[in-house]
Amino acid sequence: MEILRNVLVVLHIIGFAGILAGVMMQMPKVKEGAAKINGAILHSSLLMLVTGLGLVGMMYARDLEPNNMKIGVKTLVLIVMLVLALVNKKKQSVSPAVLGSIGGLAVLNVILAVFWH
Ligand code: HEM
Repeated sequence: MEILRNVLVVLHIIGFAGILAGVMMQMPKVKEGAAKINGAILHSSLLMLVTGLGLVGMMYARDLEPNNMKIGVKTLVLIVMLVLALVNKKKQSVSPAVLGSIGGLAVLNVILAVFWH
């Protein structure tokens, strides 16, 4: 049980790295008007959702009470990120505001994860 939880935490953190990497890869392309929502952003965001839900399940499996308010807010933040990514997926050129919002919201979720108990 502990191993499964640890694997999910590792994947959860890799997902965060994937989102930031995806955003940063596109930053230099903003000036040329060629920045896109890439697979790293989309797939890593989905990975966060799947591993996050799995981690909530693991908390129940370990008889721990999840902080539902915190989980709810983190899920909401992630949904906003996913909507931003999906709505802009087909665009030839994505604005720095969209990229910055996706990256900034991901960082916000790390802050919530770490500081909110
Ligand atoms: C961009 C989105 C997200 C980021 C950057 C993120 C980040 C993190 C980080 C850094 C941790 C480890 C630190 C800690 O446990 O205090 C963590 C843990 C956790 N996350 Fe997330 N998270 C995101 C989305 C989600 C979502 C959507 C859910 C739920 C559906 C979720 C559920 C959890 C749970 C339950 C833990 C605790 C695991 C445990 O201690 O057993 N996360 N998250």
